[in-house]
Amino acid sequence: MNRSICLLIIVLMGSCLPILCAAADQDAAAPAAISDATQECLDCHASFHPGIVAGWRNSRHAAITPAAAMKVTGEGRKVSATDVPESLRTVAVGCAECHLLRPEAHADTFDHNGYDVHVVVSPQDCATCHPQEAEQYDRNIMAHARKNLKENAVYNQLQRSILGQPEVADGRLSVTAEGAAARAEGCYYCHGTELKVTGSEVRDTDAGELEFPIIAGWPNQGVGRINLDGSRGSCAACHTRHQFSMAMARKPDTCGECHVGPDVPALKVYKASKHGNIYLSKHHEWDFDKVPWTIGDDFRAPTCATCHISLLVDSDENVVAERTHEMKNRLSWRIFGLIYAHPQPINPDTTIIRNSEGRPLPTDFDGGFAQKFLISTEEQANRRMEMTAICLKCHDSSWVDGHFKRYEETIHASNASVKAATDLMRSAWDQGIATGLDQDQNPFDEAIERIWSDGWLFYANTVRFASAMAGGGDYGVFADGRYQLSRSVIQLADRLALEKRLGPRRE
Ligand code: HEC
Ligand code: HEC
Ligand code: HEC
Ligand code: HEC
Ligand code: HEC
Ligand code: HEC
Ligand code: HEC
Ligand code: HEC
Repeated sequence: MNRSICLLIIVLMGSCLPILCAAADQDAAAPAAISDATQECLDCHASFHPGIVAGWRNSRHAAITPAAAMKVTGEGRKVSATDVPESLRTVAVGCAECHLLRPEAHADTFDHNGYDVHVVVSPQDCATCHPQEAEQYDRNIMAHARKNLKENAVYNQLQRSILGQPEVADGRLSVTAEGAAARAEGCYYCHGTELKVTGSEVRDTDAGELEFPIIAGWPNQGVGRINLDGSRGSCAACHTRHQFSMAMARKPDTCGECHVGPDVPALKVYKASKHGNIYLSKHHEWDFDKVPWTIGDDFRAPTCATCHISLLVDSDENVVAERTHEMKNRLSWRIFGLIYAHPQPINPDTTIIRNSEGRPLPTDFDGGFAQKFLISTEEQANRRMEMTAICLKCHDSSWVDGHFKRYEETIHASNASVKAATDLMRSAWDQGIATGLDQDQNPFDEAIERIWSDGWLFYANTVRFASAMAGGGDYGVFADGRYQLSRSVIQLADRLALEKRLGPRRE
């Protein structure tokens, strides 16, 4: 039904039809029909949790039924499922339509006023209507963020050296294992906790005594969270509940919650860049709700989503980039040093990687790549083309080529600085000045080792992030950039010379 016929019918026939017509019209604000079950949830929760209900009422889920959404054809379609269960099709996506899905799959399903409700709605639940996004996201390295950290023996040592509880006994420092709270508020805040039902409790609520599951690891919205149906991640990491807005995910502060540094300073670098500057001054004039997103018409400088995720078209509606919830498609280098920048891993599960020394790292300490597990130079070039296609809609080729030429040089130069630092560190380990992996000891827990790890984890990374995303001068130099990187090499050399003069370690 097109809009003019729709309007005509409304005018002719009065007020009950707009609901039907509005459903087919993407921009209509009229509410969609609400299922009986959702009405029951709303009757209670509107008074107990007005914040939750208001968030939902302002969402597209409250306004547009799956049946209406599935009528949309072409690039503007938001429901990628071709077959949504009959019972869900003609009602708004309400509390019951999400919290009652697949009850047998969730360990936290509990009897709640006669309904089998689960608390943690998972990506697999969203997949009922959004299978493409859920499948892509599951292949995104983010979905594997918990496992990639938790099941890597070397990274565990980094984690322990940072989160572990220091204690001094008889004048000697020792570090014991960190507690669950330190893990959940530390590394796993972003990487994701593992949720587990540990029992149930009866709460005395305003609606009387009700029984609820007790969930360990909750709350958490880490990108690699292990859910109670075994699925990975939280869509709410970028589409916060209960509005689940796309516009929000397109804005850089959403990503900045986890990508702010100093190890991964993407947001800081972005804000200092020309792109960030234009976004901050002008974004209120742009349209963050349009699908597809037209370069030039809807926005005039890129956000994180533009370069890494969004479906983009030009003014003639030619597709410039396909949407991807699997962000690797446009990335050629992994600039986050482990310990050197290296070609992107082939598999999002990085625990399978072994370097030539047999360690679960994508690079050797002397700079070689674990190439078998990383993408080829050819694939790097393909992915670079995917990214530059976007730049070329706002810049000419000499600008973009010049940018990436410098970036490639910066990758090699920053890797070379990390190599110099690591050669010094190796010599400290070899001479017994510190103890590292070769001695079966934590390579991150001594003062000299911190000088070394600050070099690659903070400074080399910052230099590369500033270069990749045109992030202004300071992050390339004085704000955790080349100044501090060169200083850490000098400090290591100095420290090594001093330790040598002092002679072998005394216990
Ligand atoms: C009779 C009132 C009532 C009805 C009907 C009701 N709820 Fe609740 N619900 C509550 C109360 C009260 C709480 C507990 C609030 C608290 O502990 O702060 C709650 C808690 C919840 C929780 C969170 C549980 C937790 O431990 O985190 C979810 C999820 C939930 N309800 C979903 C629903 C859904 C979905 C429906 C409809 C199918 C529904 N509720 C119907 C009253 C109700
Ligand atoms: C589109 C699916 C969807 C709809 C619709 C939905 N929820 Fe949720 N809800 C979620 C997700 C997802 C989470 C957990 C998010 C996470 O951390 O990953 C959640 C979490 C919750 C929680 C626990 C978290 C908290 O902040 O206490 C409550 C309570 C809740 N929802 C109630 C409701 C009520 C009431 C409604 C209806 C007004 C509703 N939900 C509608 C998906 C949904
Ligand atoms: C029963 C089907 C259904 C389920 C389950 C569902 N959605 Fe949706 N979703 C929809 C419909 C319908 C729309 C509106 C489509 C439109 O506007 O054309 C939508 C729209 C969206 C949008 C776009 C919002 C915007 O601002 O444009 C996002 C993001 C989204 N859903 C995320 C989720 C997430 C995350 C979950 C799981 C927590 C989920 N959905 C569960 C049907 C569903
Ligand atoms: C503020 C959010 C945040 C916290 C907290 C956090 N990380 Fe990360 N971590 C990230 C991001 C973002 C990346 C990806 C960086 C990139 O690819 O550029 C990442 C990637 C990693 C990787 C690479 C994993 C792989 O194989 O792909 C390791 C190792 C790591 N982090 C270790 C840690 C440790 C150890 C802690 C706790 C001491 C920690 N992180 C805390 C955000 C975080
Ligand atoms: C809740 C935290 C969180 C949020 C929010 C978040 N990320 Fe991430 N992101 C991570 C973590 C953690 C990793 C690293 C996972 C690993 O290495 O195992 C990561 C990895 C990445 C990567 C590296 C992919 C690769 O293959 O090397 C990119 C790019 C990225 N995120 C972009 C974004 C963008 C863009 C946004 C916002 C739209 C965003 N992230 C929001 C935590 C987050
Ligand atoms: C790292 C951040 C991030 C996470 C996590 C994420 N999304 Fe998205 N999502 C985005 C961005 C950014 C967009 C806007 C894409 C665009 O501009 O084309 C988007 C768009 C969407 C849309 C609208 C698509 C359309 O056709 O308009 C849906 C639906 C959606 N996401 C569902 C999900 C589901 C389901 C999950 C969990 C499996 C999820 N997202 C997880 C960032 C994220
Ligand atoms: C102008 C486009 C552009 C914008 C805007 C942008 N990025 Fe990037 N980003 C890039 C390029 C180019 C690379 C390097 C890709 C390569 O090596 O192929 C990159 C790399 C990354 C990486 C490195 C992943 C890794 O493997 O270590 C992360 C994480 C990232 N960006 C996150 C973000 C976040 C978060 C924002 C917003 C605050 C953002 N980006 C804004 C273009 C952009
Ligand atoms: C939507 C348009 C748009 C896209 C897409 C875009 N840019 Fe830009 N970019 C701009 C605008 C506008 C400026 C500001 C130019 C000026 O200062 O006059 C800019 C500035 C820059 C600068 C200058 C930074 C400085 O201050 O010296 C670089 C470098 C740059 N862009 C690189 C890129 C690269 C690389 C990509 C793709 C990964 C890209 N841009 C994508 C619009 C865009």
